Amino acid sequence: MTVDAARERRGVVVTGGASGIGFECATHFAERGDRVVVADLADGSPAVARLPHPERHRAVVVDVADRSSVAALAAVVREEFDGRVDVVVNCAGIALLAPARELSAEQWDRTLSVNLTGSFTVCQALGPLMLDRGSGRIVNLASQASVVALDRHVAYCASKAAVVGMTRVLAAEWAAHGVTVNAVSPTVVDTELGRQAWEGEPGEQMRAAIPVGRFAETREVAALVGYLASDDAAMVTGQNIVIDGGYTAV
Ligand SMILES: NC(=O)c1ccc[n+]([C@@H]2O[C@H](COP(=O)([O-])OP(=O)(O)OC[C@H]3O[C@@H](n4cnc5c(N)ncnc54)[C@H](O)[C@@H]3O)[C@@H](O)[C@H]2O)c1
Repeated sequence: MTVDAARERRGVVVTGGASGIGFECATHFAERGDRVVVADLADGSPAVARLPHPERHRAVVVDVADRSSVAALAAVVREEFDGRVDVVVNCAGIALLAPARELSAEQWDRTLSVNLTGSFTVCQALGPLMLDRGSGRIVNLASQASVVALDRHVAYCASKAAVVGMTRVLAAEWAAHGVTVNAVSPTVVDTELGRQAWEGEPGEQMRAAIPVGRFAETREVAALVGYLASDDAAMVTGQNIVIDGGYTAV
């Protein structure tokens, strides 16, 4: 695969890029010639090895819930990309599920720390690199859980609704500096997280309630992320774009 000369200097950071939707996003950008940092709690080296032109990309172990770990990521990114970051995709996320009266304080805190605070910390650490250049794209993975109630998802729904609120404020504050900030909200996607949350009867019921009649595929989510990260999407900011086969429309 040849590298598009116009894009070969674009730097993309994908948190949670070692698996699932994040890996699909990393693949999407790598296929188009961008350089990708796969930032994940897990070792992202095997994921990087599977990307086109693996020598152009980099795996960084990071816990987005740990501010010093994110600061270290920002330092690597500044060095690796010569201070240039064009796209940040916040995909790192967890789903710790229990009925509201049974959910532990630890499950609540960890969910909010990773899904919400982690996304904000990454935006705050890497956003200034975009603001200084007057150009950038941030895409935050929210979920259909940001707009509807899902059984056993109280912490997850709260965290994802808050990600959308955060997205709107960053979009408003950063629009004049050429940086767009959007959220993407898929229905169930066939990944490790999706399988764990929706195995068995709840998954069958959810699938039956989706008008399109199936779950989303990672490549469908990555294509939407890719659009929001493109030059064509310069006028789209502060939005939460749902990709759910019509689930929240009916
Ligand atoms: N799969 C679905 O059904 C679904 C639906 C809607 C939204 N989402 C969201 O999409 C995003 C990606 O989920 P996925 O389905 O690809 O899940 P996944 O479990 O396949 O991938 C999540 C990745 O995040 C990483 N991660 C977890 N905690 C981290 C931390 N503290 N710091 C850094 N990395 C961390 C994991 O190691 C993993 O590689 C998540 O934000 C999730 O909430 C998923």
